[in-house]
Amino acid sequence: MRREAIDVRVALLGYGTVGAAVHRLLEEQGDEIERATGHRLRVVRALVRDTARERGFSPDAGVLTTDFAAVRDDPAIGLVAEVMGGLEPAGEYVLELLRGGTPVVTANKQLLARRGPELFEAAAAGAVQLRFEASVCAAIPVIKVLRESLVASNVHRVLGIVNGTTNFILSAMEAGSTYGEALAEAQRLGYAEADPAEDVGGLDAAAKTAILATVAFGSRVPVEWVDVEGIEGVTREHVAAARAMEMHVKLVARATLVDERVDVRVGPALVDSHHPLAAIEGAFNAVMLQGDAIREITLEGPGAGGLETASAVVADMVSIVGTTGTGFLQNDPVWRDLEQLPAGELTSPWYLRLEVEDRAGVLARLAHELAAEGVSVARLVQQPGDGHAVLHVVTHEAPQGGLERALAAIRSLPESRGGVSALPVVSDRGIEDLGWA
Ligand SMILES: NC(=O)c1ccc[n+]([C@@H]2O[C@H](COP(=O)([O-])OP(=O)(O)OC[C@H]3O[C@@H](n4cnc5c(N)ncnc54)[C@H](OP(=O)(O)O)[C@@H]3O)[C@@H](O)[C@H]2O)c1
Repeated sequence: MRREAIDVRVALLGYGTVGAAVHRLLEEQGDEIERATGHRLRVVRALVRDTARERGFSPDAGVLTTDFAAVRDDPAIGLVAEVMGGLEPAGEYVLELLRGGTPVVTANKQLLARRGPELFEAAAAGAVQLRFEASVCAAIPVIKVLRESLVASNVHRVLGIVNGTTNFILSAMEAGSTYGEALAEAQRLGYAEADPAEDVGGLDAAAKTAILATVAFGSRVPVEWVDVEGIEGVTREHVAAARAMEMHVKLVARATLVDERVDVRVGPALVDSHHPLAAIEGAFNAVMLQGDAIREITLEGPGAGGLETASAVVADMVSIVGTTGTGFLQNDPVWRDLEQLPAGELTSPWYLRLEVEDRAGVLARLAHELAAEGVSVARLVQQPGDGHAVLHVVTHEAPQGGLERALAAIRSLPESRGGVSALPVVSDRGIEDLGWA
């Protein structure tokens, strides 16, 4: 016999692209949610700046409000989704709600990455859940997979393409556009903001990487630990050199556990065309998880968009109503205190682009400077430049610190013509499999 559904009164902080889509999903999928949980989630309040604005999915009369107190002080509201964005006032609002005993779902990566400890403390004080699936890669359920499905898998590496704007731009550059043309196209199609700095500079990906690392390793990883480089310096030449070596330039997010220490970075990398991340085209996202018990799992899907993000927000709401009072899953994913891997200790194969004088003996000097820092060359391709030579070098696995010292020595050689750059290489294949041995 079917039981009567229990109503849960829901408030949204924000009713923009994501907020309106959350309301729409709750309405359109209401029967499905009720079958799954026995609850009917009803949006009774939505905080906005301007109640007169036209909305994508219209709420009932009286739902929109500009007064946060109308949400905070209504004891009948059992669940809130923060989908307004920004650090303030969103941060203060979420803290007040949690402390007051209202569970919160948020899509706000910057808020979570920058104020995670405070937020989870407030959730503990209020004895309520704070869930944040939508803050990383929108529709891709990576937080849930890490926290629930892989709870016993000892995940030690997370690799991802977590920013669709930059992936779209790099894909367009591969198809022949310049960086400027690709960015303009991304803006025209709505993939890039009018001010694209947070995306192209890597800061959006850095916040997501800090959250992923925190959840994957169970230790607080502050966003300040993330070594960030954007894609502004990527040229068509980098892209062409990568293609010539059967690789693709991607903005790669990486979180690695090395001897119980954490390395987190975001930056352009050359991805081997056989690697799962190489196939991620356009505005799509993907996250690869590697762990002891699972080898690897790659999740792929849309990393942005109103409905896509809303699907993750609604899934978190459903999890909250379904697990309240059961004690299932601790709230804060953090259970230990790991240190940061010192800068320079992470090892990787590297791609180097070097401009040098085109004369006898230069290659031997370069190889000597690299070898002196323990960096050995796996592949070298020489192209004639304008009165000089451009060398494309792929190294075997080497620590970043040694590589940087070798590059500094190479820059100061009299044969150097400037133009020294290095990018990590992402490949699961050894040099022999790559055909370079
Ligand atoms: N859009 C995506 O694809 C996507 C993907 C992943 C995560 N997210 C995250 O989801 C969140 C929402 O994004 P969105 O695209 O839906 O943003 P949006 O369209 O700009 O909507 C923001 C909403 O918040 C309201 N708001 C903003 N500041 C406010 C304030 N000080 N007081 C009261 N209301 C305020 C706005 O009110 P008005 O409508 O009156 O202006 C609007 O309804 C952000 O944290 C974003 O990072 C978005």
